[in-house]
Order: sequence, then C-alpha cells, then structure tokens
Amino acid sequence: MKLKRITPLIFCFCLTILSGCTKKSDTADSEMDRFIDDLLSRMTLDEKIGQTVLYTSGYDVITGPTVDPDYKEYLKKGMVGGIFNAVGADYTRSLQKIAVEETRLGIPLIFGYDVIHGQRTIFPIPLAESCSWDLEAMERSAKIAASEATAEGVNWIYAPMVDISRDPRWGRVAEGAGEDVYLGSLIAAARVKGFQGNSLKDKNTVVACVKHYAAYGATMAGRDYNTVDMSLNELWNTYLPPFKAALDAGCGTIMTSFNDLNGIPATGNNYLLKEILRDRWNFNGFVVTDYTSINEMIPHGYAKDEKHSAEIAMNAGVNMDMQGGVYMNHLKTLVEEGKVSEKEITEAARAILRIKYKLGLFEDPYRYCDTDREKTDILTVENKEAARDIARKSMVLLKNDNQTLPLKEDKRIALIGPLAKDQYEILGCWSAMGNRDTIPVSVYEGLVDAIGENRISYAKGCDIQSEDTKGFNEAVKMASAADVVVMVMGEYHNMSGENNSRTDLSLPGVQLDLLKAIKKTGKPIVLVLMNGRPLTINWEKENMDAILEAWFPGTMGGAAIADVLTGKYNPSGKLTMTFPQRVGQIPLFYNHKNTGRPFDPNDPQFAYGSKYWDVSNDPLYPFGHGLSYTTFSYSDLTLSSKEITSTNPLKISIKLTNTGKYDGEEVVQLYTRDLVGSITRPVKELKGFKKVFLKAGESQNIEFTLTVDDLRFYNANLKYDYEPGDFHLFVGGSSDTKIKTGFVLE
Ligand code: BGC
Repeated sequence: MKLKRITPLIFCFCLTILSGCTKKSDTADSEMDRFIDDLLSRMTLDEKIGQTVLYTSGYDVITGPTVDPDYKEYLKKGMVGGIFNAVGADYTRSLQKIAVEETRLGIPLIFGYDVIHGQRTIFPIPLAESCSWDLEAMERSAKIAASEATAEGVNWIYAPMVDISRDPRWGRVAEGAGEDVYLGSLIAAARVKGFQGNSLKDKNTVVACVKHYAAYGATMAGRDYNTVDMSLNELWNTYLPPFKAALDAGCGTIMTSFNDLNGIPATGNNYLLKEILRDRWNFNGFVVTDYTSINEMIPHGYAKDEKHSAEIAMNAGVNMDMQGGVYMNHLKTLVEEGKVSEKEITEAARAILRIKYKLGLFEDPYRYCDTDREKTDILTVENKEAARDIARKSMVLLKNDNQTLPLKEDKRIALIGPLAKDQYEILGCWSAMGNRDTIPVSVYEGLVDAIGENRISYAKGCDIQSEDTKGFNEAVKMASAADVVVMVMGEYHNMSGENNSRTDLSLPGVQLDLLKAIKKTGKPIVLVLMNGRPLTINWEKENMDAILEAWFPGTMGGAAIADVLTGKYNPSGKLTMTFPQRVGQIPLFYNHKNTGRPFDPNDPQFAYGSKYWDVSNDPLYPFGHGLSYTTFSYSDLTLSSKEITSTNPLKISIKLTNTGKYDGEEVVQLYTRDLVGSITRPVKELKGFKKVFLKAGESQNIEFTLTVDDLRFYNANLKYDYEPGDFHLFVGGSSDTKIKTGFVLE
C-alpha cells in the first residue's frame, strides 16, 4: 500500500490513542467522521462521483464471474464505488485489488448481491418463513445467509424486502413477509439483526439493504412496476412502518422502488427520500436506486432525458446509481451548470464511505475475500439442519380431515405429481448461488429417507404447465393400488418473484384435472403445494382430505416435508397472506375497513350491503389460519381492567389447552379494533402474538400486555397518536377468531 493511501489510517490511529474518556460508540463515530472528512477533503469531484456509481458483474453458473471489460477501466480510474453480482473470494479479491492498488486514493469497493433467502444453503422463500411466526428462526436464517455470502466475497445484501403485500397476483409477494404491518415490522427488524449481527466489521456479517422504498407492494392490479396511488394515511399506517422498523434495527442502506407514488417516481421522490428518511427518521446510511430506476424516470414521464433524471435523483436524495450510468455520465456537468451542488455529491459519497468504514473495509479491504471460509463455511451440516428446521416451521397445514395426516405406518403411499421428484423448482425464486441440480432434497428423496422405499410408488402424472395428460393413466393405476395418495403440485419457481405476476391463481396446466382423476379412485388424498403466492384452490379445499402448504421450501425442502408428513414434526405455521376464493376479490386482506354498508350475511334483506353477486366476501383461508395435528382450545379470557390509560397498561390473559393427542405449537394471536377514530380504522389489527409449545393435555395461561402506544396510528395530520374511545379485543388461533371482549381507552 502506498503512503498516500494509508495517511487516513495513521491519522485515525493517532486519534484513537489521543481519545480516552468519551463513550466508546461516540469515540468510534467521531473517529470515523474525522477519517471520512479527511478522505473527502482529498477527493476530487470525479472521485466523489465515483463512489456513487454501482455496476453489476454478471455471474454465469457455467462460466463463473464475468465483468464487462469496460468496468475494469472504470475501476482503475476510481469511477466505481461498488460492484454487485460479483461472487467468489478470489474474484472479489481481484476486483478489490484494482480499487485498492490501482486507483489514486485506494478506496475499497463494496460488493452487493441479492441474497433473498440464503446464499448456497437455500432457506424457504421469505413469504414461507414469515408463516413460521418465529422471529428467532428468521434471524438465524438471515445470519446463516450472511455468513455464507461473506464467505464468497459479498458484504452488502439486497434484503430484507419489506413491501406489504396484499395482492397475490404480484409475483414479488414471495420475497416479503405477507400482508400485516405489525408482523412485517417485527420480521424486518429480525432479518436486519440476522444479517448485520452485532458489528458490521465481523467477517461473517453484511450490511443489509431494506427495499423497495416505498409502497411497491401496492402496484396497481398486481402488475409489476405499475403505478401506485394511495393516501398518505395508508402510506404511513401500512406501508412505511416495516421500513422504519428495519432502520430502527440499524439497517445501513435502503433501496428505492421502481413505482411512482402519487405521481412522483420513488427514485426522484424528495418527500420519501429527504423529508421522511433523512429529516423525520434521521437515517444516516445510504440510499441506492433499484436497477436503472433513475433512467426509468424518462418512460415514467418525469424526466426528459438521462441528464435530467440524474439531476432529479441526486437532488431528491439518491446516493448511489445502480447500473444506470447516469451519475457517472452527467453529475459533473450538472455541477458545472449549477443544477446539482457539489455539497449534495459530497454528502452522497460521505454516506457511502461511512458504510464502507463500518464494514471495516478501510482496515482490511480483503476481509471478505477468504478462500478458506469459502471452503468451510457454506452448505455445512449445521446450515442445512437450520434450513430443514425453518422449512418445516414455515409450512401451513390448511386442511386435515379425518386425521389423514400424519401418514400412518405400514400404509402404501402413491407419491404423484410434477413436483414430487423435483429438485429444481423447490428452491423458489431468487435463490442466489443455490445449486438447483443436485443438492436440493426432493420430496421423494425425503420420504424414502424417512420410511424406506418399499411402501412408496411414484408417478409424475403431468407437468406443471402443459396440456399433456398422457401420464394420467399410470398415476391413477398407482393411486388405486395404494392406501393413501400424496400429490405434490404447484407453480414453477419463476411464476413468482420479479415481474412474474399472474391473473389466474389456480394450479397451472392440467394439474387440477389430474387431481380430479385421482379423486375418482376414492383413496384419501394429501395435497402438498409448492408455490410462491396464495392460490385460489377452491375445488382442492372441498375435495382433498388434507392440504399442506409447503411453499418453496429450499435446499432441505423434501426432508422437511417428509418430517411433517410422517409426524416427526407437528406443523405450526400460520398464513401471513389471505387466500382469496377468486381473483376478483383481490385485494383481500384481514385488516380492511368496515365501509358504511358492511354486508351482514345474516341479514339477506340488506341488499345494499357491500358484496359481490357471485361470491361471498369471505377468504378461502384467512390470515393467521393454520392447523396442527393436535387441537387447541381457548378459555378464560380476562383483562386486568376495563380501561387502558397512558399509565395503566392492559394485561390480557387467556388459557390455552392442548386438547388433542399430539404435543404441538400454537401461534396465539391478539387483535384489536378501534371502533371510532378521527380517520376510519381497520376491522381488526394484529397487536401481539406468542408461539407456544404445549404437550398433549397441557394448559397454560398466555399473557399479553397492551399499552396505549400499541394503539397509536397516523391521524389525518399524520400525527402518530392514540385516541380515547371504545375498542374490541380478540384472541385466538387465526384472524377470524370469535373470542372477543372490549375495553376503553381513557
Ligand atoms: C430488483 C431488486 C434487486 C435488484 C438488483 C432489481 O431488478 O427489483 O430487488 O435487488 O434488481 O439485482
């Protein structure tokens, strides 16, 4: 390293020695600030602009990493601050070496990657994980993802995705935590903690990037990248809180979204990026665009050309340009023309340099390029066990008539369906470096491993999506010869995820026809679903004996499914997204408003209640629904008082009893309804939950504490406050619980 590059380090070291009595974190912050001030004072405008530029290096599964030769030239000139999609300890080291040894100031690069649900050990898709309602498990899965990613050179992860998702047509619901703001906020924080750990400097932690800011989940008609137009109340009460929760948990970076919001693209949105993020929330990390979303302000009709889009984005508070090239190409001219101030660019560079500093890159730019860790820390036995554990926790038992599950010993099983032997789709969308060919455990393999080959026969029956019914006969024959049929069906992994929206949410192709043909055999049927979104499975609900929603369960998916089917694990997942009966009901979610004409099915005279001609307002399966092999009963709901005040929180207690034959876990859910508000309030809102394990026959009093702070919301003036009045309170094992009482907020 040349002397000119280490000057700041020596400076920083001296400061460390000179300082002594201030608090450790203050000292660390001021050391960092001085280091960065010094560095910035020596940077040219071009070098500052360089920090704001992020480019992709492709990764080809066959040929490995690829980088556009031009980028290497840009790198040498200090024109690039970060690279994404570069994976591999050696490869990232080679790029880092250029930045550190060949540029004037030797500022290290940051390496980003979409590690959405695991790096090599692939965990269930995030929507699935959210159904575990197990924050610790989600934190652990994020921690393992970070550990594996850092073993391959990555130090910046584009997750968690925290977009509230109420529209299952939108493919990206698979990447998030479902429809609820309270649960979604807790999950956002848990994932950030898992990724970032106690210190960004640790070798096995990364800086997280919460996305997509903001309101992307409300994209019109569920079509990706589409317009979002919503009230500020809805924005503040529903869509922003998970971002706030992620940032409060220390998330270092945030990504803008592709959509426009109330007429202004999120990437050029001063209100979102400056007023809310910097002024109200005091965010001091950095803001990166989504992929070329600066340039997309042109087709949005908000910028007239790329130069104009660069001007809008930088002035709105976007610090880093992902792949758009517009900061690289236009910022300097914009400064010369007085359209963007150099100060704005200095602050953008500062925000980025702070994160690099916190990652420890100035101390050791190669700390994440460790070929030893790359050999030892990925796909370990422990990581795979953790993936298996969370996969089974994520599955939701939607139906189980006549105790069809768990599968009885000594019964012959016909395992049928396009996903029964699959190792490819099972990883789900966006599975980073997950190997889809040989490593994942299929359902067939998992079951054989659990109960041996003798009792299992297999037929594919049909494809996921084709009109071909040639395999039906063999499948029907096999089902007829068995005692019970397990059908494994669902979607292709890429029917969900980015730009994979659907308008028909039924099982694709001829899968339903195959189910109908098998039904005629009269054998009990268990349907195991792998899919990235809620589906409209009406016939299936009516006609299957059991339905297990396994989502896309990841590397250990087949083993985890076998654990559940055989009863080695008693399912405990609960839906975090409503299943609609029909696409026409969408958006359908549990915490909707009541309307002025709520439909009452018990009052058929009320012809002008809010309803449809052809379908009830009910969901197929509500938010919070999920069965167990055992049963639970609720009794003795008591409140410590009929009133809640700012000094007297409410203590809520309910007795939960495991009334069935199996030990098992229940997610006890607490909801409230604010009956009259200065703005209209939802019919129910989740305010707490506890996941409780009870042995068969055991009872436990479950307690919650509710404070007035839990009852705050953003009112018409966007003041976050609570209002006196009457409330309903509900407790139970699903959002449609009828166990209800009330209290008054004084
Ligand atoms: C997606 C982001 C992702 C980015 C980088 C975009 O297309 O919307 O979620 O992080 O690409 O790969």
